[in-house]
Amino acid sequence: MDDFVEPGAVRHGNFINYYDFNSAPERRDLLPLDDDLWRTTTEASQQPYLVLDVGCNAGNFTQLLYEFLVQKKPNRKIIMLGVDIDPVLIERATQANQFKENVFYSCYNVMEYDDAENCIANHLKAQGKYQFDVVCCFSITMWIHLNNGDDGLLRFLDLMVQLSEILVIEPQPWSCYKNAVRRMKRAGAQDTFPLFGALKMRNDVEQSIKDYLKCKKLLAIIYESDATKWKRKICFYRKGA
Ligand SMILES: C[S@@+](CC[C@H](N)C(=O)[O-])C[C@H]1O[C@@H](n2cnc3c(N)ncnc32)[C@H](O)[C@@H]1O
Repeated sequence: MDDFVEPGAVRHGNFINYYDFNSAPERRDLLPLDDDLWRTTTEASQQPYLVLDVGCNAGNFTQLLYEFLVQKKPNRKIIMLGVDIDPVLIERATQANQFKENVFYSCYNVMEYDDAENCIANHLKAQGKYQFDVVCCFSITMWIHLNNGDDGLLRFLDLMVQLSEILVIEPQPWSCYKNAVRRMKRAGAQDTFPLFGALKMRNDVEQSIKDYLKCKKLLAIIYESDATKWKRKICFYRKGA
């Protein structure tokens, strides 16, 4: 997937050993226990509770999230789709999948989404739904931003809003961007991230994401976690609250 030798220098955040240094259980423990925060309009219908995990890496966190939701919603069928741009990670996730009936993985670049044929649209169609109950974007916004610029990040957020009833985002702060660029340089990359210098959302990128979702897309912030050890906060947004 990536040409660079240093394992910590990757273009899309597709670290092969991500969960060796960012503990999945520690972040699972930051998820809110309050049932109301997970409640959606499908509650009464008893249809499957659909979750999309965008940038699922090797699936370690996806599996924990699935188990968490099974406990939270014992009377609902939980169906999860994890997508990632990196085929090797998706292969690993598929191999390690303990819940093959309910958790699915697909290799997919979300920035290539169009309304026609793609694994996310097809998954929704197969479930007879037009949106997911929950869409999760854990530690992916920076990679989308670095590789697709300000416009790309906003396009990504638009898509996530379109696909979700509850949107969960754990954005990286600006300090992480600088570290990512530094790692790339150290690994000898010629062009690191060509769009980095032109980014307008910078020091306040987390607040910019929040303002965009709140003011432009009219989502309500319903929960914000304590910061993770990497100073990231998990934010829950709800449509039409
Ligand atoms: C830092 S990892 C976070 C993994 C996981 N979400 C978590 O927090 O435990 C970011 C993941 O996003 C994926 N990714 C980056 N850009 C993507 C894109 N355009 N489409 C799909 N996946 C992408 C990477 O391959 C990587 O596995």
